[in-house]
Amino acid sequence: MSEQTLSNLMSEDRRFEPPADLAENANVKAEAYDRADADREAFWAEAAERLDWGQKWDQVLDWSNPPFAKWFVGGTLNASVNCVDRHVDAGNGDKVALHWVGEPEDDTRDITYAQLKDEVSKAANALTELGVKKGDRVAIYMPMIPEVVVAMLACARLGAPHTVVFGGFSADALASRITDCEAHVVITSDGGYRRGAASALKPAVDEAVAKTGDLVRNVLVVRRTGQDVDWDDSRDVWWHDAVDGASADHEPEMHDSEHPLYVMYTSGTTGKPKGILHTTGGYLTGTSFTHWEVFDLKPETDVYWCTADVGWVTGHSYMVYGPLANGATQVMYEGTPEKGRWWQIVQDYKVTIFYTAPTAIRTFMKQGREIPDGYDMSSLRLLGSVGEPINPEAYVWYREVIGGDRCPVVDTWWQTETGQIMISPLPGVTAGKPGSAMKALPGISADVVDDEARSVGNGNGGYLVLKEPWPAMLRTLWGDDQRFKDTYWSRWEGLYFAGDGAKLDDDGDIWLLGRVDDVMNVSGHRLSTTEIESALVSHPKVAEAAVVGAADETTGQAVCAFVILRDSAGDGGEDIVEELRKHVAKEIGAIAKPRQIMVVPELPKTRSGKIMRRLLKDVAEHREVGDVTTLADSTVMDLIKDKESSAP
Ligand code: WTA
Repeated sequence: MSEQTLSNLMSEDRRFEPPADLAENANVKAEAYDRADADREAFWAEAAERLDWGQKWDQVLDWSNPPFAKWFVGGTLNASVNCVDRHVDAGNGDKVALHWVGEPEDDTRDITYAQLKDEVSKAANALTELGVKKGDRVAIYMPMIPEVVVAMLACARLGAPHTVVFGGFSADALASRITDCEAHVVITSDGGYRRGAASALKPAVDEAVAKTGDLVRNVLVVRRTGQDVDWDDSRDVWWHDAVDGASADHEPEMHDSEHPLYVMYTSGTTGKPKGILHTTGGYLTGTSFTHWEVFDLKPETDVYWCTADVGWVTGHSYMVYGPLANGATQVMYEGTPEKGRWWQIVQDYKVTIFYTAPTAIRTFMKQGREIPDGYDMSSLRLLGSVGEPINPEAYVWYREVIGGDRCPVVDTWWQTETGQIMISPLPGVTAGKPGSAMKALPGISADVVDDEARSVGNGNGGYLVLKEPWPAMLRTLWGDDQRFKDTYWSRWEGLYFAGDGAKLDDDGDIWLLGRVDDVMNVSGHRLSTTEIESALVSHPKVAEAAVVGAADETTGQAVCAFVILRDSAGDGGEDIVEELRKHVAKEIGAIAKPRQIMVVPELPKTRSGKIMRRLLKDVAEHREVGDVTTLADSTVMDLIKDKESSAP
């Protein structure tokens, strides 16, 4: 973001006060900040009391060996019991947990907490039958169907950490995740519905499993679309055969508070995705408390809807664990946001709390307000945003058009690593500013610092850091403690470096400015420039590649690639660009396909051989190219620009 747009942002002077009734009845009020400041650990201990524990903890936080935190030490609990059984035991078994909406019209299912408990218990028994034991990892590669929630909770019940891989990732990406966490069982479905058609998933699993030697023992397959699938009798098991007939009684074990709950792979600054490890007690405390706090959830009356796919952390924390631990009634939708379909669902189910990403909001803005205006969305009372900075125009449009100018918008900043929301307005307390995520939540300590780790102070920009441990923080990277330390804790002593730039305004409120490392944010999805570069150079015709995230009106950033072809490839032929885009989709997934690929004769490099992506970004964003004096060969940029102007 340029300084110019930044100062425009910071002079944004619209303020939106919380609605009076929301303020009065808010779950969390202003005093929470002081209470948490006075005794952070007591504050989080109180949040943990909202859960059901087997054994209560002896110690709230063990930070004696930073950066390796232990929360609620000595405590035991079961995440699936907290998400399901305890609501049934409290007499809420008939309450709807999931209003599931399939993509095909009229394909819906309402699932109560009692039904969910039975399904989770059956699936836990079925997985046990397949040899899954506490501590074993289970990979999940599924569409947005209720069985994915059941599968996750069944794993949690057994203490078998799951690793959910987004259904849009390729077989190769799935294979590398299965291998990294050594999963012996994969849960998938024949396919899912996307944009009106059945799209297959099982073939990608077959391909991935074939790449992992004899690691995978069983593949458990849900029948969703009914499409034909290849079948390996010695390995593949239908969900309806294994789960439907299993007993609905399952005695859950209480797991240690620090027992691994799941591993979620996310892009980092190198080619290899990082396996973010979350554990049980702290994670469930952090997600359920913030879900109740930030969305002001009233479980008796609210209908909550988070549009995120379960393959990302938002789906884990704010569709599965947080809301279910809170006994919420929620909507789960299988499809993508086609025109009016979302608003039809809001109207049909009288959704009260709605949580989505800026990229979706900007897409709806482009389509025009006539579409949402055609639906009755008066049930809504609170709106949330996550995944990337929300620009003030999108914020105000969201508030006015979707929220009828009465719903507060909570812009929530957090990461796969943080597990829980960290920076956000409190809807009953904070006067929202369009474009700002405002302040660290009670119990969270954030700051903006300069290169020497000094607080920049109000009115200045720098790097966002977190200063104190928090319950849902990642515990390490799966199998790689050293990389965990190097990535997040090595830049400055005792500070967690988030990888985001931020600015404090004159009131001390935080404005997120996007990543300062080689991570891109495309439609709220994290992608690594290095990972896409490695995918490109793995193509036989490519000698070198550089990837940048260029500003894009709808998707926030878009992937732009510059490639040098091998001499043997000649000019690569007419279809080289399409061929390379397909190759990236195969290596990583369709979401990583570059929007633009330019075949260039050279890449701009410093004398030490480092690619100057900043200059490529100037080209991709059609700007005057910046300072080239540190280039080894300053004429390179002219060659690239010539290429650009001759491009179709
Ligand atoms: C970005 C998604 C600005 C940020 C929950 C972060 C945001 C990365 C916001 C994490 C926000 C997320 N405002 N930027 N409200 N929320 N980000 O791991 O760059 O997929 O580091 O977690 O998304 O992405 P991740």
